Amino acid sequence: MKLIFLGPPGAGKGTMAKRLASHGGMAHISTGDLFREAVAQGTDLGKQVKSILDRGDLVPDEVTVKLVQERIGRPDCRRGFILDGFPRTIPQAEALDRLSPPDLAVNFVLADDEVVKRLSGRRLCPSCGKTFHILFVPPRKPDICDGCGTGLVIRKDDQVEAIRNRLAVYKAQTEPLEAHYRDLGILRNIDAAPDPEKVFAALKTALGV
Ligand code: AP5
Ligand code: MG
Ligand code: ZN
Repeated sequence: MKLIFLGPPGAGKGTMAKRLASHGGMAHISTGDLFREAVAQGTDLGKQVKSILDRGDLVPDEVTVKLVQERIGRPDCRRGFILDGFPRTIPQAEALDRLSPPDLAVNFVLADDEVVKRLSGRRLCPSCGKTFHILFVPPRKPDICDGCGTGLVIRKDDQVEAIRNRLAVYKAQTEPLEAHYRDLGILRNIDAAPDPEKVFAALKTALGV
């Protein structure tokens, strides 16, 4: 199955994609994670996108599409993939329709004030990539990853200013994709507000798995 995950920043796309990928054997591809890895490694791509990510703006379509094209061509994608955070613009969606059209577009729906709560409490493991929340998904020991024991960090773009910008960018550039996939008959809306167990159950029902 080829899936794309839509929805505002902080809706839980990454959290659900990680769970579903380990459950269903699909590749999990987060463009945000790929860009952050490039920044951490100091590659040319990383240098090009660092300030864009920190502000919460979008990386140019050309750069993003090239990255995804290369990634979905790898062998681990033959059994299907979850694209988490791509496409985010109409030109990206049109490029994907040409490269490898998705079977379903899952749209995680969450109100703005919940977005702010989710992002301001998020903590990330820089080593294994696990995501926590200080209130909603707390690690067993404060600020330590349950999975690998590494100290947790806060994403640069989870500061209030960048969160506001990411929401505005989402509404202007990404929300129009809902109509694109509705017209194709493959949009599935999921209420992202309940706790992670309930959201995951609703996701599996929507996918029929
Ligand atoms: P990206 O990394 O994709 O960021 P985003 O879309 O802003 O989404 P997030 O990762 O912040 O949220 P999420 O929905 O994954 O939520 P999460 O599961 O972490 O992109 C970052 C940047 O990269 C962009 O700003 C842009 O610059 C660039 N970029 C990426 N893709 C691009 C593209 N296609 N084109 C151009 N530029 C691109 O959950 C959030 C928090 O809530 C966590 O703390 C979690 O523990 C908690 N939580 C999750 N689910 C629940 C629940 N059900 N109940 C309570 N808490 C929950
Ligand atoms: Mg994410
Ligand atoms: Zn870890």
